[in-house]
Amino acid sequence: MKHLVSMANLSIEEMQHLIDTAIQYKTGVVQPHLKGKYIANLFFENSTRTKCSFEMAEQRLDMKRINFDTATSSVNKGESLYDTCRTLQSIGCDALVIRHQENDYYNQLLEMGIPIINAGDGSGQHPTQSLLDLMTIYEEFGRFEGLKVVICGDIKNSRVARSNYHSLTALGAEVVFSSPEIWQDDQMPGEYVELDDVISDVDVVMLLRVQHERHDDGAQGFEANTYHEQYGLSQARYDRMKEQAVIMHPAPVNRGVEIANHLVEAPKSRIFKQMENGVYVRMAVLTETIQS
Ligand code: NCD
Repeated sequence: MKHLVSMANLSIEEMQHLIDTAIQYKTGVVQPHLKGKYIANLFFENSTRTKCSFEMAEQRLDMKRINFDTATSSVNKGESLYDTCRTLQSIGCDALVIRHQENDYYNQLLEMGIPIINAGDGSGQHPTQSLLDLMTIYEEFGRFEGLKVVICGDIKNSRVARSNYHSLTALGAEVVFSSPEIWQDDQMPGEYVELDDVISDVDVVMLLRVQHERHDDGAQGFEANTYHEQYGLSQARYDRMKEQAVIMHPAPVNRGVEIANHLVEAPKSRIFKQMENGVYVRMAVLTETIQS
């Protein structure tokens, strides 16, 4: 695996291999080893989890990190993404982790010869988030085949939904969506359902953040309480979930909107487990791309 830019480029064997490697890192079966390799993280969009999780993974692998700060870089002098990445390659970086607001930004970088790890491109893909979600589901159920997953919320603007729809269906899970009409996405062929109609039947309730920053009309017409009543995870819906079912959310969470405040750390919530697993998944991705 030279790059990781989209879940659509991974075979099911590669997905499973990355999950297994991440679990081996987590259980200590495999020792971290990328000592002496150099990495730069380029985050052109805000990030807490993904950025810190990559930084943690890099440190656990004994890598050396080049500080790249978008705010003080020559990007502000108009330097292109290509030239920025080519520069980092020239000074000796072994891989680049990039989050960028433009969908498919990575296409122009793939021939450069340095591994590109996509940490999120616009509303396109978020492969490491998908892998950490897969790892969390796999740890829980030990399989994907036959699981029912509802992805709920701002589907259209979500790279998490796009990546997970692809990977989960490829791995044999059944995925349905629940979303206000304006945020439905006809590019993904999944069925749209009422959350109340499926809540007692699904194994995974995957909530998505309402992504105001991607809405052209800002927050116009959006009413948090109404959204929560129709698409949010309330106590009443929580009580109807199957005993073994779990809640997921890539975070940051809008508490009281996608999920009732007090349910964020409820027994069925795996939200912080997802973050924990993100470090191991990123260790696996860094190892696989840099060593290939
Ligand atoms: C997601 C993202 O950035 O796409 N967050 C994350 O990486 N944990 C989802 C989001 O911002 O809503």
